[in-house]
Amino acid sequence: MTNKTLGLDNQLYDYLQSVSLREPEILAQLRQETAQLPMGRMQIAPEQGQFMALLVQLLGAKKTLEVGVFTGYSSLAIALALPADGKVVACDVSEEYTAIARRHWQQAGVADKIELHIAPALETLEQLLADGEANTFDFAFIDADKRNYINYYEQALKLVRPGGLIAVDNVLWSGKVADSQVQDNSTKAIREFNQQLHQDQRVSLSMVTIADGLTLALKR
Ligand SMILES: C[S@@+](CC[C@H](N)C(=O)[O-])C[C@H]1O[C@@H](n2cnc3c(N)ncnc32)[C@H](O)[C@@H]1O
Repeated sequence: MTNKTLGLDNQLYDYLQSVSLREPEILAQLRQETAQLPMGRMQIAPEQGQFMALLVQLLGAKKTLEVGVFTGYSSLAIALALPADGKVVACDVSEEYTAIARRHWQQAGVADKIELHIAPALETLEQLLADGEANTFDFAFIDADKRNYINYYEQALKLVRPGGLIAVDNVLWSGKVADSQVQDNSTKAIREFNQQLHQDQRVSLSMVTIADGLTLALKR
């Protein structure tokens, strides 16, 4: 175990949450409901939602992008942090999962801030670029199919403004990225993505060891 970054056992993780998590009731409800689903693990961790909400506030963000909505936890955490005229352009392919998202956005009173596009995200991002929205987003969160990470990142890099931030989820992939025995497609895609970002001088970079690993890339 490294002595530079702490590994978290359950006791320390509970402590971290007990002294730092400020999860609004509506997000806690969404987390409980999502935990009942077979794919509930896909949801981001609550402290990650809080962290991204803080980033959005730090940036003074108004216009944000999300690739991978699922039941809407991250989009809701971000929408709650945005000003009244803020916006989340949210991309997913699942009507079923996003129906749960929509219900909670409605209950939280932020549904009018979230524009949901049900289509393969690459198509939605291409359309945004075709509509002249390059360099207009303040923040983008990428959290969908891993094989397309590099494509989502390249499109997001066009869509965010200089000084805008791209956050990319699951970059540590439960540790599998560092285990050469693991050679499935998603793991290989994340490994390649991480290597490409390391060399990418178009952004300032940090890989944060929160939850399953979150890369932050600030467009120069
Ligand atoms: C890890 S989950 C997102 C979790 C979500 N950010 C949260 O906070 O709960 C990934 C989502 O990406 C969606 N997805 C998978 N392939 C996609 C694609 N090609 N285009 C858009 N969404 C996709 C899935 O339907 C799923 O809801």
